[in-house]
Amino acid sequence: MEKKYNVFATRRLHKSALAKIQNSCNLKVHSGRIPIPKKILLKNIKNVDGLICHPYDTIDHEIIENGQHLRSISTFSVGYDHIDIKFAKSKKITIGYTPKVLTNATAELTIGMILDLLRRITEGDRIIRKKLWKEVFGAYDYTGIEVSGRTLGIIGMGRIGKEVARKATGLGMKVVYHNRKHVTKNIEKRLKAKYLTLDKLIKESDIITLHVPYNKETHHLIDSKVFKKMKKTSFLINTSRGKMVDEIALINALKKKHILGAGIDVFETEPISKSNSLLKLENVVLAPHIGSSTEETRSKMSEITAENLLRGLQGKKLLYSV
Ligand code: DGY
Repeated sequence: MEKKYNVFATRRLHKSALAKIQNSCNLKVHSGRIPIPKKILLKNIKNVDGLICHPYDTIDHEIIENGQHLRSISTFSVGYDHIDIKFAKSKKITIGYTPKVLTNATAELTIGMILDLLRRITEGDRIIRKKLWKEVFGAYDYTGIEVSGRTLGIIGMGRIGKEVARKATGLGMKVVYHNRKHVTKNIEKRLKAKYLTLDKLIKESDIITLHVPYNKETHHLIDSKVFKKMKKTSFLINTSRGKMVDEIALINALKKKHILGAGIDVFETEPISKSNSLLKLENVVLAPHIGSSTEETRSKMSEITAENLLRGLQGKKLLYSV
């Protein structure tokens, strides 16, 4: 059977998702450097109808312009800051993404980082591995802070923000939030969440967590001015996009004890450079961008990415469309 469409993928997906695409498409999968170098993408985009991409692949004006046959872009992510959405839409290209399925995984990691930081789990692990554990049951050693009763400030009350609020309430935390729009009274009641202005949230939270999309407006949303307003006993968690936080200002704030600690899953540059000062600080928990990285979620993301791509090519309604 002659295959109808040509598809290029910047990385592989799960086998079953790839097989689904290969049923009706000629598929080429990039296997070299990640993210794909622009030169290689430019060369491969020329004759394809469909593109599968991932965060940090740059799908800008030039790439889209060169994809003269491009009809369907499908990204293996909830974030789509790597795609020139406006230009792709002006070209009538469909853009699929993978929200919802990663909400729980990302919220779990956020809560995990909060518990880890406040109870100093990773720090304790480092102490033991460095053979620095002082004495048996040191009554005043390695004391942490209880999560219960702390005020969690959620910036961005979309799907992930709401799930973090639900889980945090279960842990006995007080939830305050800031969002472009208030959520409904019903949701506020169910999540026991109180709306605050951004300024108030920054000043009143014990822990601040970010769940807004990355764009020009949210670039360096958390900068040195914000760190100075935060409580000296507070923590920052970032599981969304690295560039939302001014990393130099964060390092400074941690060193100068403007805040107590940070849980960081996303960085201004990924993977982080070996000389990044965050690596030398004890009061941080670092993760290699694993918010959605669970077996369950990544497999669902693969399936949805393939389905969105095929639906876009066939002119059908996508499962999730940007
Ligand atoms: C996303 O989907 O945008 C995440 O950052 C991937 O983990």
